[in-house]
Amino acid sequence: MSELVLKSCQGAVGVLTVNNPPVNALSPGVPEGIAEFAGDGTIEAVVLIGGGRTFIAGADIREFGKLTAAGDRERGPGLEGVLEKIENSGKPVVAAIHGTAFGGGLETAMACHYRVMAAGAQVGQPEVKLGLIPGAGGTQRLPRLAGVAKAVEMCAGGEPVKAAEALAAGIVDRVAEGDLLAAAVEMAREVAGKAPRRTRELKEKLGGDWEGVFAAAREGARKKQRNLIAPLAAIEAVEAAVKLPFDEGIRREAALFQDCLFSEQSKALIHVFFGEREVAKVPEIPKDTAAMEVKTAAVVGAGTMGGGIAMVFANAGIPVLLKEMDAEALERGMATIRRNYENSVKKGRFSPETMEQRLGLIRPVLTFDAFHEADIVIEAVYEGLELKKKVFSELNTVSRREAILASNTSTLDIDALGEATSRPEKVIGTHFFSPANVMRLLEIVKGQKTSKETMATAMALAKRLGKVGVLVGNCRGFVGNRMFGPYRREAQFLVEEGAAVEAVDEALYEFGMAMGPLATGDLAGLDVGWRIRKEFGDAADTSVRQPLIEDRLCEMGRFGQKTGEGWYRYDVQRRASHDEKVDRVIAECRKQAGLTARAIGAAEIVDRTIYALVNEGARILEEGIAGRAVDIDMIYVTGYGFPAYRGGPMWYADTVGLRKVYERVAEFEKEHGRLWTPAPLLKQLAAEGGTFAGWRAERRAAG
Ligand code: NAI
Repeated sequence: MSELVLKSCQGAVGVLTVNNPPVNALSPGVPEGIAEFAGDGTIEAVVLIGGGRTFIAGADIREFGKLTAAGDRERGPGLEGVLEKIENSGKPVVAAIHGTAFGGGLETAMACHYRVMAAGAQVGQPEVKLGLIPGAGGTQRLPRLAGVAKAVEMCAGGEPVKAAEALAAGIVDRVAEGDLLAAAVEMAREVAGKAPRRTRELKEKLGGDWEGVFAAAREGARKKQRNLIAPLAAIEAVEAAVKLPFDEGIRREAALFQDCLFSEQSKALIHVFFGEREVAKVPEIPKDTAAMEVKTAAVVGAGTMGGGIAMVFANAGIPVLLKEMDAEALERGMATIRRNYENSVKKGRFSPETMEQRLGLIRPVLTFDAFHEADIVIEAVYEGLELKKKVFSELNTVSRREAILASNTSTLDIDALGEATSRPEKVIGTHFFSPANVMRLLEIVKGQKTSKETMATAMALAKRLGKVGVLVGNCRGFVGNRMFGPYRREAQFLVEEGAAVEAVDEALYEFGMAMGPLATGDLAGLDVGWRIRKEFGDAADTSVRQPLIEDRLCEMGRFGQKTGEGWYRYDVQRRASHDEKVDRVIAECRKQAGLTARAIGAAEIVDRTIYALVNEGARILEEGIAGRAVDIDMIYVTGYGFPAYRGGPMWYADTVGLRKVYERVAEFEKEHGRLWTPAPLLKQLAAEGGTFAGWRAERRAAG
């Protein structure tokens, strides 16, 4: 037997320990070990347990990528074939579950005859989160143990289940409060000598009419897991468990699993899964770079962003000073923070004690007196270069020499802020997204002189704060907002050219964006972009077409949701409706631009806006503002509501095919002029048949 599986005996109970870190993937030795015990006259029952921190935690996700890369749709019996051997064993097998038994781990446990679970363990079928369904009998055995409704919920929703709930549902037979192995051995002794209870043979929980459950689950999935195919496939597979004999159900599950495995959605979701880990490993920061430990932080400005950022620190257990200009603004800021926390308590996210604890970590101040305590200061005052430079020069004198000075600016030049201090190597951008305590993205912006230590500290801090930190270069709007500019510009142009406001938002919502681009503008505040455009003098550039409508809406005081009017009109509950006043503005702007309205379909709306993202993304890559295509993808998936199942804008372009994308961009250039000049990198990769995802690797190989 392989060393990956250790065999020992406790009297008449044989114990198999799977020892295959990190996930304890089910190794070939297990069915052989069980067969060996079965042939051993002194053994009457078997316990299967994981070595180290967990039971079999699930499949090695890299294996999925290898399967699809090989293009081989014909699989052998796979894991299910192995599990059938366990289930068919003549002697009872008890699974002892600790840590996490997800995916293939839970499927293995369910192929055993009995299950004992440690009190702190979790089980689940999270495959759906990677665009997959359980592929080794999970959809067939789970309804037999937990009932149809619970199985649908777990396989289509993917959420983990804790011990008490697993016991109540019938997924496990016992929860061990003390020593897990002892409890499992005890159970094995009780069932020793009896005929094994095979999950596949259980029928009691399958009987009844489940049509209503399936229909409701499908409706729920269509709403909450918009456009996703895996949840629907999972529901269909569980339905097969009810309607077909076990073996046929297994075949149905296998076919559905294969469809999901080879789907673009699953490949994209797996790309995002690894992308999140990949962006944390920045090639330009040497591995041995020492990050400074952040023990205390300070935030300047207690407005929308500053207040949220202070909460992020408090949530991570880091004490934070929060400074404002005057008592009134400070009180307002603190009141908002308290209200946010109270809402979380109301929703049951945490206890009132936790809330008080977190509030206790936020120290409101009106002076810089205590700023020497802070290891990092984050500036979140109004957007304006002169104001921010002044604040940075003050921070330079009031902060400790070693402290990092960071800015939450969304567009301004980090180098200019560094110049305002005597420590540009300690200056960096930490661009949080609104609401800062909710959004996972943290764009970390390096200046020319920012040191590797400062970058490493910011990256490590992002992780501690529970954020996805992505390191980017310094330019107007950095990566996220720089790309969002052309995207939202095209949305406005489409309206000027004849598309209805609702049609533009609807097309991108259907594409999978969390929200349409015009509604997003209303939510974020149209004035934000308007002020930035004014600061940079955009409208004065007459060499290219300028979007007209939003500037006009802002001149009318229509800033979006906060003023009750923007692209839409909003009622007190912030529900949007069409506004004829906007139609008039559009008509005027159309005239001013010398356009006649034409019919524009959803496909053109999507191509114009999404390819605007892609073309700008290609320039950003080429300039090195983003190091890798995956950095851009993660920024868009975690910060801009880009659908994870499309993998991010660059991944999406790769799946469309860069030649096709290039040709469309070139067409737009002919129609709309130089705003659409194809990025040289897009042109090059299209000609070479390359991809954005593979670009770095190819370049490294070549150079
Ligand atoms: P805000 O207007 O809500 O808050 C700014 C706060 O800073 C105000 O409460 C003001 O009293 C305070 N302040 C101004 N000067 C100060 C000083 N010298 N000392 C102490 N406090 C001072 O603005 P918001 O939206 O929070 O934006 C802050 C920064 O975050 C800006 O640079 C903005 O571009 C950036 N940002 C904003 C996002 C958003 O969605 N609102 C998203 C990402 C970044």
